[in-house]
Amino acid sequence: MKSRLHAHVGTIRQLEILLAVHDKGSIKEAAKTLFLTQPTVSIQMKKLAQAMGSSLFNYANRQLLFTDIGLALVKTAVEVLDSFARLDMSLGNIKDFKSGTLRLAVVTTSKYFIPHLLGPFLEQYPDIDIQLKIGNREQTIERLKQGVDDFYVFSHPPSDIETESIEFLTNPLVAIAHEDHPIARKKDLTLKDICNEPFLMREKGSGTRHAIEEFLKQHKAKINVKMTIESNEAIKHSVMSKLGISILSAHTLTYGGQSGLVRLPIKELPINSHWFFVWSKSKRQTLIAAKFLNHIESNGRALLQKEMSRNGIAHSQVNPSHQGGQAET
Ligand code: PGA
Repeated sequence: MKSRLHAHVGTIRQLEILLAVHDKGSIKEAAKTLFLTQPTVSIQMKKLAQAMGSSLFNYANRQLLFTDIGLALVKTAVEVLDSFARLDMSLGNIKDFKSGTLRLAVVTTSKYFIPHLLGPFLEQYPDIDIQLKIGNREQTIERLKQGVDDFYVFSHPPSDIETESIEFLTNPLVAIAHEDHPIARKKDLTLKDICNEPFLMREKGSGTRHAIEEFLKQHKAKINVKMTIESNEAIKHSVMSKLGISILSAHTLTYGGQSGLVRLPIKELPINSHWFFVWSKSKRQTLIAAKFLNHIESNGRALLQKEMSRNGIAHSQVNPSHQGGQAET
């Protein structure tokens, strides 16, 4: 809200002097406290009174008495200076990494493991707030273009935006079917064996779908998409309900219900991709973001890899050409 008065109330320094005069009850004592000369204090108080269009105090029996306008200004000065003191404190905390916000935008599939990275970080910095946005690959790319977040998580970072990235985890994509499905009992399956099966596919814009389409192109294969579903969990439940087969990140199978689901041993699978933390080259990193990156590199990544290998997802080293901003297409 813009006030008409704010242009008149003088400088912050004048408000400080006003408070000293009010507290000490005399120009002389205020000048002593502030290490100023008496004329300096008098001149500043005169200027402030002129700016307000009214005297701020008068003298009665050599005693300084504040006018109503003077007292109202003192009250405002206390509030203004308190606000600055609070700002000073919070800036100090932010500089010491004690508080502030870390903004992350991650693709849907990474929600299965991101909390394992955030937990130990928040234990170290309990006053930091985390803002976690979850969307599919396309929605997350849109946020990256707008540059609103500190980090983005992709397994297929966009190639047309200048970014830096670090790889931190394996993302194997595996085929799943219901255990009663006739092909579930077969061994030595190949991609051909599933091409005609009703397939449940993630929506357009999904990174999982992008990876599957690239994989099919590479193998010159076509599949029989029966349903397009916007959620990994809904796909799992649809496979559990015998509506078809699918290919999903193995991370989606580590949590939640999966009774009756089996992985199909298809020769050409898994699709081996990796997870990356990505940030925009043009955005200046906040101190909290730098601290978080340090957390990932120093122990977060190793802890996460350990946790995931407990869930049966072993980590394989990424192709070095994918690191340092060399994004996949
Ligand atoms: P998605 O992304 O959740 O949009 O499918 C996953 C990925 O990038 O591998």
